[in-house]
Amino acid sequence: MTMRLRQAIDKATVALAQAGIDSARIDAELLAAHLAGTDRGRLRTVDEPDAEFFSRFDELVQARCRRIPLQHLIGSAAFGPLDLRVGPGVFIPRPETEALLEWALAQRLPECPVIVDLCTGSGALAIALATERPQARVIAVDDDPAALDYARGNAASTSVEFVEADVTVPGLLPDLTGSVDLVVSNPPYIPLGAELEPEVAEHDPAHALFGGADGMSVIAPIARLAGIWLKPGGLFAVEHDDTTSRQTVQILSDTNLFTAITPHRDLAGRPRFVTACRTTTKESA
Ligand SMILES: C[S@@+](CC[C@H](N)C(=O)[O-])C[C@H]1O[C@@H](n2cnc3c(N)ncnc32)[C@H](O)[C@@H]1O
Repeated sequence: MTMRLRQAIDKATVALAQAGIDSARIDAELLAAHLAGTDRGRLRTVDEPDAEFFSRFDELVQARCRRIPLQHLIGSAAFGPLDLRVGPGVFIPRPETEALLEWALAQRLPECPVIVDLCTGSGALAIALATERPQARVIAVDDDPAALDYARGNAASTSVEFVEADVTVPGLLPDLTGSVDLVVSNPPYIPLGAELEPEVAEHDPAHALFGGADGMSVIAPIARLAGIWLKPGGLFAVEHDDTTSRQTVQILSDTNLFTAITPHRDLAGRPRFVTACRTTTKESA
């Protein structure tokens, strides 16, 4: 890496740390790599950038110091093997959700499964599953047209089908009844009033974040829909707030439609998602 670029990154790291950003050096390097059109790991091979580069770098660092999300500044977010386009108006996919994705990918499903992703946002789970299982029919639902615009763009090279609908409406998509192999969802689940980092509070859409006073207002209807749509033996996975694992297990149990209800932790060890299996007629008898 050239001396001038190293000095600019060092200075940016100090400014970002002073603005309260924990990952200051990584963010500084990612912004520089974005401007240089390379990966963070290849910054050292970059030739001396021009004056325009350093002026744009300063602008981006100042914007990040104002706690604009890194992903909005670089225009994309990594999710598993994907790089998804994101920006104002859509929830930025989180690494925590990769734990649910890994669980879903590890499940044994029929050769041409039907998979539904509820509250798809940028399309993260739906597109990752469709990419890994090209034989699957994947249906992704969200009620926000702005989110669906991003999702459709991100899914351009896949066959994911998008539906604009409110998942809290009972009886949604009746044609799916008893025909789905896997339902996944990372819905809005933060309890109202929770304290959030400025990047989240000011830049993720509130509609994507909050799940009512207890964080369960979308999870409960989703659990009922999954119970209706899944085939006997079909699988369900739903992400939740790290304070609501017990409530999520209870909601699934109260439907009397699921067995093997299992809480899981994310990569950081926090309670993060619950999985369950749709009962077969024999089990519910
Ligand atoms: C936490 S974001 C998750 C996005 C995506 N699943 C992910 O993991 O990145 C929740 C998404 O749910 C959508 N949403 C909120 N309430 C909804 C509802 N009642 N029906 C359908 N979608 C809803 C929001 O528009 C947002 O895109």
